[in-house]
Amino acid sequence: MDKVTNETVLRHGFDHGTDPALLADIAGEWDHLREESRTFSSDAYPWTNWYVTRFDDVFEVFRDTETFSSRQTNYNVTDTHRWIPAQVDPPEHTAYRTALNPMFAPGALALMEPKVRAVCVDLIEGFVADGACDMVTQFAQRFPTSIFLQMMGLPLEDTDTFLDWAHQMMHTPGADAEAVETRKNGARTIYRYMRQMIVERRANPGDDVVSNLLGVQIGDHEITDEELLEISMLMYVAGMDTVAGMLTYVIAHLARHPEQREYLRADPARVPVAVEEFLRYYSIASPARLVRDDMEYAGCPMKQGDRVILATWPANRDPRQFADADTFVIDREGNRHCAFGIGIHRCIGSHLARLEIRVAIEEWLRLIPEFRVPDGAVITQHVGGAAGLDTLPLVWG
Ligand code: HEM
Repeated sequence: MDKVTNETVLRHGFDHGTDPALLADIAGEWDHLREESRTFSSDAYPWTNWYVTRFDDVFEVFRDTETFSSRQTNYNVTDTHRWIPAQVDPPEHTAYRTALNPMFAPGALALMEPKVRAVCVDLIEGFVADGACDMVTQFAQRFPTSIFLQMMGLPLEDTDTFLDWAHQMMHTPGADAEAVETRKNGARTIYRYMRQMIVERRANPGDDVVSNLLGVQIGDHEITDEELLEISMLMYVAGMDTVAGMLTYVIAHLARHPEQREYLRADPARVPVAVEEFLRYYSIASPARLVRDDMEYAGCPMKQGDRVILATWPANRDPRQFADADTFVIDREGNRHCAFGIGIHRCIGSHLARLEIRVAIEEWLRLIPEFRVPDGAVITQHVGGAAGLDTLPLVWG
């Protein structure tokens, strides 16, 4: 570690996707990194990564679209692509959000709740009689994937295929050539599948995200197949892995806190407030930005082309922002976390994510009121752009 200025240090080779200390203890290590220096940089990739970890800094970078662009390439997953709207800057960004917002508004999602609940119940009923499950592969990954497939009008039988591709593209960390190629391969396969799906929707529209966008005006033109492709890809990337990761932490937490299970079961109206605390306490997302021009920010001599990683996990546990920041307060009031980002790119799927997490908690606690992690279970996690547990064995009955 080298000191760069009073506010920032250089951590040689640090990669938040592979760092052993983060993998071993994500909460403790992010706390440590946040308190050790205001920001830090790393030379693990061909470009410099700057890490912002304190709430005020993360808040400011999220909002400052003039200085920080969203147009970056996601660790070589998609060099030639740009995911819409996540990797589009203003003013173009507005037209895409205007087209997409109605589909993800609370009113539209309220209509989806019965379907979401039915998928959730169906999955849990599939293993409840076994008295045990691996919560990650049998539930956390399948639930949001099934909802995504339904929203896109795709067959549920494709769930396993989608999960395999997602694994290749999103859970192969590292900057080495082999890891980069595996990620790109996964992305190429998904793009091929999505391209075919768009051809089919044009020929035979239904009630799904792509069909609803056909004919929509984006600025001066009608939405193109390329734009539909980048939107579909982003829905896949942003909607599945994130909710899956969140659910692993949520259910693991409840497995270890019987008194909190009881508190929520006694009055399910308490669940929405608890969901906000889960989102704050287990903030899985670390989006990135591209530095537009050389400048200095928070003591960092940033150069054009550098990346900035906005680590929401440590930001949402910043004691400068939250009282008892490292304590899970199930009825926390005024919980203004940044788990869904801030500003124009704020998560379009936040209402859907909240719905899925709430329904998962309600139905899990109803169908499996008592459950625990078996003694001696080894639980590992992945970190990086979207964190989550790799396995979560549970037993009950
Ligand atoms: C717990 C689950 C989720 C978390 C923690 C999460 C987190 C985030 C964050 C932090 C951002 C801001 C990214 C940035 O500023 O660069 C974002 C954007 C986005 N999210 Fe989510 N997300 C979740 C679920 C979902 C779901 C279910 C969808 C489904 C459609 C979704 C779709 C999107 C899209 C399309 C964007 C880009 C919005 C834009 O650029 O205007 N997310 N999400």
